[in-house]
Amino acid sequence: MLSVTNARSDDAATLEEVEAFLNDNADQGVRPRPTEQMKLAMDSGLALLIRDETALVGLSLVHQFRIEGGVRFFSEIGTMRITANGRGLQILLTRLHLAQMYVEEFGAAHHDIFAVVSHGSASEHNLTDVCGLTDWVPPKDLVTARACKGLPFSPAKRILHAEAPAIVRARAEMRAAHLDADIYALPRGKGEVRLDLGWLSPELLVV
Ligand SMILES: CC(C)(COP(=O)(O)OP(=O)(O)OC[C@H]1O[C@@H](n2cnc3c(N)ncnc32)[C@H](O)[C@@H]1OP(=O)(O)O)[C@@H](O)C(=O)NCCC(=O)NCCS
Repeated sequence: MLSVTNARSDDAATLEEVEAFLNDNADQGVRPRPTEQMKLAMDSGLALLIRDETALVGLSLVHQFRIEGGVRFFSEIGTMRITANGRGLQILLTRLHLAQMYVEEFGAAHHDIFAVVSHGSASEHNLTDVCGLTDWVPPKDLVTARACKGLPFSPAKRILHAEAPAIVRARAEMRAAHLDADIYALPRGKGEVRLDLGWLSPELLVV
């Protein structure tokens, strides 16, 4: 059975495994990021890893931006790669990110969750049509912060935002998918997955 875990913070072996997986499965839809940024994303506690019985088959990392002196905090669902396709795993990981970030404290009055997708891609379809993310114009501070990290927004891509209804929907879909203990149905009804996540309980998902 597939299982999902949060990567442990400061886990050098897993960071190496994640970087090897992304190198071995390089795709133009995943922007390479410096190891230091990958490490920070792993340390956030939000990194999700999917394994089958033997190996990684997918992962998703959230990259965080705190605007200096500001009250806004930004989370980018920014490194998503799935190799076991056709089972709705991007939808699963996106829903889990939204549910986990809903219960996290970010120490800012405003928290924005966003993603950047290519037009006409599977990711665009999954994040908009299924997960309900909507078009967004990022604030200037974020544009600058991202550019400073060597990751300017590309005008050729679509920037999506998770508004409150998308977060409510993600939590409700996860609640409906709960089968027993830590076992949940996969989004397309194609099997089951063990969610080995300390923070998750069906009660937390009641909306
Ligand atoms: C995008 C990605 C994460 C999705 O993986 P996945 O969760 O296994 O996706 P699935 O195979 O379950 O679903 C793909 C869906 O997109 C649809 N799709 C595929 N190509 C498409 C395209 N070019 N345009 C629109 N929809 C497309 C499929 O029909 C399917 O939708 P449906 O089930 O509603 O018919 C994976 O393909 C991947 O790693 N791609 C390369 C990296 C990438 O793009 N990452 C995302 C960056 S934001």
